[in-house]
Amino acid sequence: MAQKDLKAMSFEEYCRTVFDAKKIFEKPEAFKGYTAISTTQYILGPSCANYFAELGMETIKIELPRRGEPMRHTTPYNEPFLYPLSRWMPDKGTGLGFFGANHNEYFLAVDFHKPEGVEIVHRIQAKTDIQAENYRPGTFDRWGIGYRQAAKINPRMVYIWMGGFGGWGPGRVRASYDILGQAQGGTFSITGMPGPGQGHPAIGLPSKHTIWLADYWGGMMGCFAGLAALWWRDNISGTGEFIEYSQVHGATRIIEGTIPLFARYGVIAQRWGNWDRQLCVHGIVQCGKPSYPGSKIPLEAEPGQILISAPEDGEFAKLCQVIPNLKALASKYAKYDDRIQPKAQSEIYLAMEEWAKDKTKEEVWQIMEKNEINSQPVWSNKECSQQEHFHLRDELHWLDDPYFGDVLSQGLPYHLSDTPARHRWVFKPVGADNEYILQKYCGYGLDQIRELEKNDII
Ligand SMILES: CC(C)(COP(=O)(O)OP(=O)(O)OC[C@H]1O[C@@H](n2cnc3c(N)ncnc32)[C@H](O)[C@@H]1OP(=O)(O)O)[C@@H](O)C(=O)NCCC(=O)NCCS
Repeated sequence: MAQKDLKAMSFEEYCRTVFDAKKIFEKPEAFKGYTAISTTQYILGPSCANYFAELGMETIKIELPRRGEPMRHTTPYNEPFLYPLSRWMPDKGTGLGFFGANHNEYFLAVDFHKPEGVEIVHRIQAKTDIQAENYRPGTFDRWGIGYRQAAKINPRMVYIWMGGFGGWGPGRVRASYDILGQAQGGTFSITGMPGPGQGHPAIGLPSKHTIWLADYWGGMMGCFAGLAALWWRDNISGTGEFIEYSQVHGATRIIEGTIPLFARYGVIAQRWGNWDRQLCVHGIVQCGKPSYPGSKIPLEAEPGQILISAPEDGEFAKLCQVIPNLKALASKYAKYDDRIQPKAQSEIYLAMEEWAKDKTKEEVWQIMEKNEINSQPVWSNKECSQQEHFHLRDELHWLDDPYFGDVLSQGLPYHLSDTPARHRWVFKPVGADNEYILQKYCGYGLDQIRELEKNDII
């Protein structure tokens, strides 16, 4: 497209043109030519390597022969008839928990306990730019395939180890999962309904997130650190480096001002449920009517919720004009500082919920939209899946996956106009690419590969 044509476009037209999803596969990939190893399990490490693969690196996931990594079989909705775990375990499927974190990868099976397995890893490491790994601290070092050994074979290699509590320090040795990281990192203690005596009408407990927030966020931070190390290698030093990422510290990084809040003022941050401690109105309002009253699905038969955001004084004054029940509170809580007090919030939200009692979330949304007040109904996965906006922008798309079949899947939430990331396939069975990878990276012939298979090394 000529530059002047682009210049003449409206911003919306410009975005639609340069990010056109139909052109993604005609454009180059930012990291084409780079190779990554993914010796990862569950979500933290896998999602990091998945981002490398989305950006164009040839990414080789290495798993335990036959069984694969635990995420394949620790979540439900596996579909054995569609998707065997490996050619040795055709009766077992891969659960949907594996779905989001292993796109575009090549799947190799290697037993790291066997010397021939170690030899395979070393041969691949010799030709690799970056490796993501998230076993316990020191496991790979003990097996002779960690950063220290790899750097001797290939000093240009960047290696990111991702773990729970860090690779050193008194608390380092424990195994970890997303929720352990969040529990120690401080995110759970401020999520959920408040305890008694906080001034909130609902009393509750800390709440865990349903999504693996520390893992996906950690994977992204790991990818970000890895790309920085590659930039440094390619532009400054010529050598790789070792990176450590900790789930716990990643969680603490996003609890923001709560650390200085305690350090400077001695205040322990409280849970405040679906409202916000620092902004009011800026929270979820319970409506009284369900959006799908006839539905047999309990969640759909429930009354809906809507997020309403009008925290500034002017916005709150406008909201008070729109919601009759709030009129009496308009001058009492006209000032931001008064409005964020617990008692004020209780009065304000309860008045709004009284008003929303005979409405669905869509009816409230319509009223808010008409009056230009920021709001958004709380949507389920089904409601997200049905949004034309998501589909048109390729944020949701149908993949014709070679193994999985037709599957509605998330697209990429970030778009690069010239070097877009992309999804080629979702994932494959354990060891599906044994031959391709062992021939290309290790120079092995088919007979040798068969022998390795026979001896359970791959
Ligand atoms: C996830 C976690 C708890 C699993 O712990 P674990 O299985 O007890 O210990 P490791 O991760 O060190 O894995 C070692 C085991 O993996 C198995 N294994 C996995 N892949 C293997 C392979 N390709 N070849 C050989 N053994 C393999 C072995 O049984 C090995 O046990 P061994 O040392 O007795 O031989 C741990 O790796 C961890 O804390 N990781 C960091 C935090 C994290 O990323 N958590 C997951 C995301 S929520």
